[in-house]
Amino acid sequence: MVISRTQTSGLHSSPAAAFRRKVNDLRSEGRTVIDLTAGDLDFPSPPHAVEAAVRAARAGETRYTNVDGTPELKDAVREHFRRQNGLSFDRSEIIVSTGSSQAIANAFAVTVQPGDEVIIPTPSWATYAGQAALAGGSPVFVSCAQNNGFKLRAADLAGAITERTRWIVINNPVNPTGALYTGAELAELCTVLRQHPHVRVLADNLYEHLVFDGRKAVTPLEVAPDLRDRTVTISGVAKSYSMMGWRIGYAAGPPALIADMTRVQYLTTSCPSSISQAAAAAALLGPQDLLAERADILRAKRDLLVDLLNGAAGLACAPPEATFYLCVSCAGVIGRRKADGGVVATGADVSDHLLQAAGIAVLPGEAYGMPGYVRASFAVPTEDIHQAGRLIAEACRALA
Ligand SMILES: Cc1ncc(COP(=O)(O)O)c(C=O)c1O
Repeated sequence: MVISRTQTSGLHSSPAAAFRRKVNDLRSEGRTVIDLTAGDLDFPSPPHAVEAAVRAARAGETRYTNVDGTPELKDAVREHFRRQNGLSFDRSEIIVSTGSSQAIANAFAVTVQPGDEVIIPTPSWATYAGQAALAGGSPVFVSCAQNNGFKLRAADLAGAITERTRWIVINNPVNPTGALYTGAELAELCTVLRQHPHVRVLADNLYEHLVFDGRKAVTPLEVAPDLRDRTVTISGVAKSYSMMGWRIGYAAGPPALIADMTRVQYLTTSCPSSISQAAAAAALLGPQDLLAERADILRAKRDLLVDLLNGAAGLACAPPEATFYLCVSCAGVIGRRKADGGVVATGADVSDHLLQAAGIAVLPGEAYGMPGYVRASFAVPTEDIHQAGRLIAEACRALA
């Protein structure tokens, strides 16, 4: 296990956004680029959610709402947790935020002091570290071995906890690896946490519906209800319902902590958009069949991209159990030479080479704590996946 503690400010931009700038520069020069970097899905938002937003706007629901969300959306969120996880919460245990990003930042803002530590199993979504640092804390990265499916082992969690640990982040399913913790694996982590009552659990379930092959995403409170007084469970409509730009996320947690998070939210953004809240409530309470239908479409795209990339000399990837990201090992191309004589030495070099030589954008794994890997999204049109597979294979063949 590698534990790395960092004192950096952690204030960085989104790796995907930074890379998108390069893509846009190339496109402005007339190059065709297939973009596999996005954290967005290429599905439309559910039509009944869009209709609900239009109705809300027309009905004059255009005023500030309660800072922590409308009672209607809070009740829809309660219904979501009941249906998805069998968990019941009072309204006082729910906050609605401008995206789950804000809910997470709120939670850290009200609990983390300078010198406090936030344990982040890596590979991980890059933003947790910045959010912990923004609150004055130090991210503690605990690397999760590939031979354990990039998942945190209980012994490694035990080794990383100190008296300054305030939080452990448990993102299930995991961005960027697509790994899915089983209930038994979460239960083992919770056994460790029982011995450390000062550590809170931030359970981020944002990708909970993008799960394949008959699996189901479990959240820590389902296996360890006794940790309820120190667990904040996060989700949102962005990925499940393809409502990224509506900016609605939510958190369920102990009422006192939710009240503190509401105070911070009041001081930063106040309430989330009234129109988006109406849309999110409609998505959560409306027909849910689209979740399984979309997961099936994504699974087919996953299988296609996995096959194509495994056919490219030097690349290797396993089908992820969830999300819409593939973690691609570049071990077989690292050390090889490009036409200009330069050696490909890192995941960032691979992503640069694929962009320059093939017009394919994938994110360097280094941004997610996965050196030697790249992250490729398969939530793109099927024709793009075919085309990308062919061009990536050519670009790999061109390396000597
Ligand atoms: C793991 C994870 N959590 C949270 C978020 C934040 O999502 P949003 O603020 O759109 O709800 C993202 C976004 O990509 C993510 O990947």
